[in-house]
Formats: sequence, structure tokens, C-alpha cells
Amino acid sequence: MFKSIENSAELQKYIFTYGVNEHPLQKEIREYTEKNLGNSAIMQISPDQGALLQFIIKSSNIQNCLEIGTFTGYSALTMALALPENGSIVSLDIDKVNTDIAKKYWSKHSVGKKIDFILAPALETMEEFINQDKMFDLIFIDADKKNYKNYFLKSLELLEKDGIIIIDNTLWKGKVFDLNIKDDQTNSIREFNSFVRDFKGTDSMILPIADGMTICRKL
Ligand SMILES: C[S@@+](CC[C@H](N)C(=O)[O-])C[C@H]1O[C@@H](n2cnc3c(N)ncnc32)[C@H](O)[C@@H]1O
Repeated sequence: MFKSIENSAELQKYIFTYGVNEHPLQKEIREYTEKNLGNSAIMQISPDQGALLQFIIKSSNIQNCLEIGTFTGYSALTMALALPENGSIVSLDIDKVNTDIAKKYWSKHSVGKKIDFILAPALETMEEFINQDKMFDLIFIDADKKNYKNYFLKSLELLEKDGIIIIDNTLWKGKVFDLNIKDDQTNSIREFNSFVRDFKGTDSMILPIADGMTICRKL
């Protein structure tokens, strides 16, 4: 066994207090979602995941991001806040109701102008982008789990060498390592994790942050 701190509510509170500096609008979206969307609110990334995305964007000189899975807009806003003046992000989702909430909040800050939203199945939009030779520096995958492998493979066509793919929920509440759990979503993520581990075209690792995040660099 390696030394690691057991996750707890106290640890999370400490990290959110000392390891994260949320922008007031991030806080507004997060709190609105928690108050009004019930259990679905767990779909938004956590503040420390947001801080990690921002750190990667700033330290890797990222200018163009693609997000798969907008929801109420927390992660897109988080990434937009870290982008340089000429940076941009395209965010994809199929849910009009929740993404209307996202658009309402994004419009409250000038950084919202950096976010372009497309309401359509993400695989279709990605295919169009491939046909248009569109390229991105970073792609964040956070939508339907059964398509993770498809999103990953299409992402590789939309990234230059050294481009980054970040995938959320790859530890799936710990279900991936409980062999008694055999539901479709858990199996999809298990298969995806094996696929990424054995894939020769990227460097990758799984970070035990929130629900698990895989970070990959295209070789
Ligand atoms: C986990 S939530 C995204 C959370 C968001 N990244 C955040 O941190 O606030 C997943 C989203 O993926 C969207 N989604 C599901 N299937 C999709 C598809 N085929 N194409 C695009 N979006 C899809 C859902 O509507 C949902 O809003």
C-alpha cells in the first residue's frame, strides 16, 4: 500500500477552502444548480476539478477548447475564465432546458463571449468538425458514458500532437473496482479505462480527484 489520505467531508472542505479560488459567477452557477436541480447537481464538476482544468489551460498555453457535456455551464465557464484574451471554447449538449440555464449565467460576464454552444448530439458535431479540419488544444469529455470510447477516438482527430484530452467520471463512484457491480454504465467505463491504458497513441493517467479524471496527451 502507498501512503494516501482517506477521502472525507473534512478533507474536501479543507481543499475547497485552501486549494480553490472560485470566481463569484462559478459559485453562482454551482449554487443555483445545487439548489434547483436536485440530485442532478452532482453532474457538475467539483471546484477542485475546475481549478485543475484552469491550471492545465494556463500552464499549457491552451487557446481552443472543446467540451462534450455542458449541463448548466459550470465547467465551460470555468475553462473560459482561464483562457487567454483570444481563447475560445465550444461546448456541446443535447439538453435545451439545462443549457438555457448555462447561457443565462454565461451572459452575465464578458468571458461568456468566448463560449460557443451547439445543441446537437456531440458525435455528429465532432464529425462535422473533423470534416471542416477544425482543431482544438484541449478536449474535455463529460457526457454519456457509453460513448466515451467514440468521443476519445474522435477527439484524437481534432487534436494536434501534444493536445490534451481530459475525461471525467473514470472512477465512477468507485464502482469500477467493485467486481460485484455489473451494470452497463460501470462496464462501459471499465472497458474505456482498459482501452485507454493499452492505447499506444497517448500518454495517460487517472487522477483520484472527485469521481476520477483521466488526463491524456496525444503523442
Ligand atoms: C455530467 S453532465 C456535464 C456536466 C458539465 N460538464 C459540468 O461540469 O457542469 C453530462 C451532460 O452530457 C449531456 N449529454 C448526454 N448525451 C449527450 C450526447 N449524445 N451529446 C451531447 N451531450 C450529451 C447531458 O445532456 C448532460 O448535460
